[in-house]
Amino acid sequence: MPEKAHYGLLKGKKGIVFGPLDESSIGWQIALHAYREGAEIAISNVATALRFGNIEELALLCGNAPVIVCDASRNEDVDNCFKELKEKMGAVDFIVHSIGMSQNIRKQLPYEELNYEWFMRTLDVSGLSLHRIVSYALKNDAINAGGSIVALSYIASQRNYWTYSDMGDAKSLLESIARSYGPRLAKRAIRINTVSQSPTYTKAGSGIPGFEKMYEYSDLMSPLGNASAEECAEYTMTLLSDLSRKVTMQNLFHDGGYSSMGATIPMIKLAHEVLNDRELAARVGLDDVSPST
Ligand SMILES: NC(=O)c1ccc[n+]([C@@H]2O[C@H](COP(=O)([O-])OP(=O)(O)OC[C@H]3O[C@@H](n4cnc5c(N)ncnc54)[C@H](O)[C@@H]3O)[C@@H](O)[C@H]2O)c1
Repeated sequence: MPEKAHYGLLKGKKGIVFGPLDESSIGWQIALHAYREGAEIAISNVATALRFGNIEELALLCGNAPVIVCDASRNEDVDNCFKELKEKMGAVDFIVHSIGMSQNIRKQLPYEELNYEWFMRTLDVSGLSLHRIVSYALKNDAINAGGSIVALSYIASQRNYWTYSDMGDAKSLLESIARSYGPRLAKRAIRINTVSQSPTYTKAGSGIPGFEKMYEYSDLMSPLGNASAEECAEYTMTLLSDLSRKVTMQNLFHDGGYSSMGATIPMIKLAHEVLNDRELAARVGLDDVSPST
């Protein structure tokens, strides 16, 4: 494989990435790419992730990056995180939020029967944490004017995906927080965007019931195919760099074209085969589906 090109897009910049766990994580790829693009970075995650993930390995790969333990659902932790960050690196130029978690999905509770304590936790960890991170970054004067904030989202914020459950609600909240902060941050020329990424095989992603089928479906529906975590990181580099100074309050689809497609030929062919071959339909558990007349 030829060595990948780097462009020095983040030369002279500093940033913090919340949420890398292991090599599959979108946040891991973003941290690594930011470092390779010339940034000095810090990495943050919860204490359990430090025990079960490979975060120390990532820190080494990113030039001995400081690792800051922080539960993004706790005010005190986030406040201390930015205090520690400032002590170790000074104020930063970019913040990446790559955090998500739903206990309701883990336990596979049907949407109609969600555990509300877990629901609140999903909203807190996966949505509100963006607000908390931005709020404490500002309070601690830990983000420079001209900076960029990016959070990872998924199209289930706008459309229904049966098994994505309360994470769809959390992603709507996340995207809304990014919009609400936009004009406020713009006063200091700071921009904030969400990147709506294709299904990706990560710890959080593959915990969703039926993820494999969702992944395949999305791939067939995307003219350019599903985007990988690495490709997501490459795209994110442009948003952290000065090349996107006037892009803010956007939910940017990074999904191989999926979000703009109505139907694709492979999906139409598959549906046609199932609808016209009763044996095949029975084999894939769709024998009760018939074309409306
Ligand atoms: N994998 C996908 O299919 C996909 C698609 C679109 C968007 N996303 C989003 O990308 C982001 C990163 O997820 P990923 O797929 O790389 O999975 P991942 O499991 O690698 O990352 C999720 C991270 O969230 C961290 N986290 C959980 N609770 C936390 C808390 N209280 N405080 C701080 N961190 C906490 C976890 O430790 C983990 O590192 C998430 O926002 C996810 O929703 C993922």
